[in-house]
Amino acid sequence: MNAYTRQCAGPPGGAAGTPPPAFGLLPGATGAEARTAERSEPERLGEFTAGQLGRLCDLVGIEAQQRSAHQRVLSDLLGPAAARPLADPPPSPSFVSDDHTPVEFSLTFPVGGAPVLRVLVDPGCAARALPDNARTAWAAVGRLAAQWGFRLDELTRVNDLFLPPVPHGPLALWSALELRPSAPPGLKLYLNAGSRGAERSMETVGEAMTRLGHGQAFEPVRCYLKPRFPERATFMFFALDVGPWAEPRVKVYVVHHHATVADAADAARLVPGACPQRVAEVCRQIGGDDSFSRLPLISCYSFTGADAGRPTGHSIYVPVRAYVRDDLAARDHAVRLLRRYGIPSAPLDRALATLTARPLSAGVGLIPYLSLVQASRQAPRITAYLSAEAYRVFPPREDAGSGSPADDRRAADRAG
Ligand code: TRP
Repeated sequence: MNAYTRQCAGPPGGAAGTPPPAFGLLPGATGAEARTAERSEPERLGEFTAGQLGRLCDLVGIEAQQRSAHQRVLSDLLGPAAARPLADPPPSPSFVSDDHTPVEFSLTFPVGGAPVLRVLVDPGCAARALPDNARTAWAAVGRLAAQWGFRLDELTRVNDLFLPPVPHGPLALWSALELRPSAPPGLKLYLNAGSRGAERSMETVGEAMTRLGHGQAFEPVRCYLKPRFPERATFMFFALDVGPWAEPRVKVYVVHHHATVADAADAARLVPGACPQRVAEVCRQIGGDDSFSRLPLISCYSFTGADAGRPTGHSIYVPVRAYVRDDLAARDHAVRLLRRYGIPSAPLDRALATLTARPLSAGVGLIPYLSLVQASRQAPRITAYLSAEAYRVFPPREDAGSGSPADDRRAADRAG
């Protein structure tokens, strides 16, 4: 439970978690055979997540040399946390995932293109207190930028706003890598809009947008938030693409508390290229017509240099894990959504199988979010967020309602 989800029902269950997958991974091994390999050493966080990352790289066609480079970056970002045995508790209560694994993967599926793999890391996770977390993360990001030869000008321009001496939680600075087949990763940074207190987040984000030259484009978002803040809408992350991106974005994440499908669709109306009906459709598919009160829907507004006084992109994040019994049902939602946009779903099934050996029906949370991204001049994209589950598998929710199309296959899933 954390600052954003406290009012809502948290991760399902509360019962003791099942242990992490009982397979080990030999360093550098990525094949299925490695998963069953015997090992005497205790498995460590860095090795476990690098193994998952390696298998996901294989899946999206990233070759051995680049795969190893990506695995090294992940391990560097984890710092001393990488060496922690998985049998120990998580390094800190990282807000990256429900079980506090400081790593989360995602596969984004552009219409008509190959899936793109990304990984989100809490680079300060080994620190006990947030100020240390911030310092460690800043240093780690600085090392990456130096290594890849780019500057962190945008971050430097707003760092006093988001990394004050005594930052508020639940995060300080996260980094996400977009993993490319033949180049260093694209780097994205996530900051806490509530770093100086949630009540000051409007001021903090507004000031950052002005400094980065998006003051005017941010205006529609500010007007949308104003009458709703903080009961119905609050800020979450402030994100920056840094380094050599074709079109770097600044992103502002807005949490919709207890929103209905219509509220979510309305939130997309601020963005000229986004179709509110598509947002309504994905929300309704997953959550039905009740308000989203177990975990909130989240919108992300993106801003680029090309904006004409408005945000240029909108994403809706649906916390599917709170609205299904188990991951078989979450997977079915993902597949249905992909099919709706004509995107092959086989890579998703393969990705799930590379992350865990457990039956999908035996837990929930492997797919924490599904999102739909719409931006002007681009085809929509679907993204499935994927948990590492290094520390815990949450038991299926028994209050999610039965009769889902997955029911018949659940027995087979458990058996096989
Ligand atoms: N675990 C947090 C949450 O569930 C933060 C987070 C991780 C998140 N991945 C995300 C939020 C993707 C939005 C989208 O809210």
